[in-house]
Amino acid sequence: MPEHVTVVTHPLVQHKLTLMRDKETSTNSFRRLLREISQLLAYEITREMELTTKRIETPLCPMDAPVIDGKKLALISILRAGNGLLDGVLELIPAARVGFVGLYRDEETLQPVQYYYKVPGELENRLVIVLDPMLATGNSSAAAVDLLKKSGARNIRFMCLLAAPEGVARMREAHPDVPIVAAAIDECLNEQGYIVPGLGDAGDRMFGTK
Ligand code: URA
Repeated sequence: MPEHVTVVTHPLVQHKLTLMRDKETSTNSFRRLLREISQLLAYEITREMELTTKRIETPLCPMDAPVIDGKKLALISILRAGNGLLDGVLELIPAARVGFVGLYRDEETLQPVQYYYKVPGELENRLVIVLDPMLATGNSSAAAVDLLKKSGARNIRFMCLLAAPEGVARMREAHPDVPIVAAAIDECLNEQGYIVPGLGDAGDRMFGTK
């Protein structure tokens, strides 16, 4: 396993992922499972957030209690499938700032084309978590991280559900400083750029489109 990739092997994650891969799983269930897994991945990806202490009073006595240090997180959803991860992570960290990067994949070249970009200010002071369920070729992900770095982001992490080895390699080459947290690394990409065995088109499965 490449050093900058953490695969969350927790049985709950793996069980829910299998349900998501199953083509018989409904749109409704797919969305719910993605939300649930996103929270388990968020637990892992935020593990090293720095803590400070805050003076509070419990009903029994004063104490210096741990709180997250510094600026809040920025969650960056890569549209549109990133929104499936965003919903769950925001439930867990409601104070996070949120940004959106719209990149679609040209079906012939498989290269990303930007159509939307709106991110919170002061990215340089935030932990920036990029959300995209499928790290396939890695081209869109690398392009999104390029844009975020141009906006000042320095501490970036990438959360996905499934990664292809090709996507992991592309990210490592383009952004070796960006750790990846995934629920699984699959076998390969097919000729259409789909992750195999994968789960199909995450956006379509999440939103019931075709
Ligand atoms: N995007 C998807 O939604 N699925 C894949 O398998 C690859 C990219």
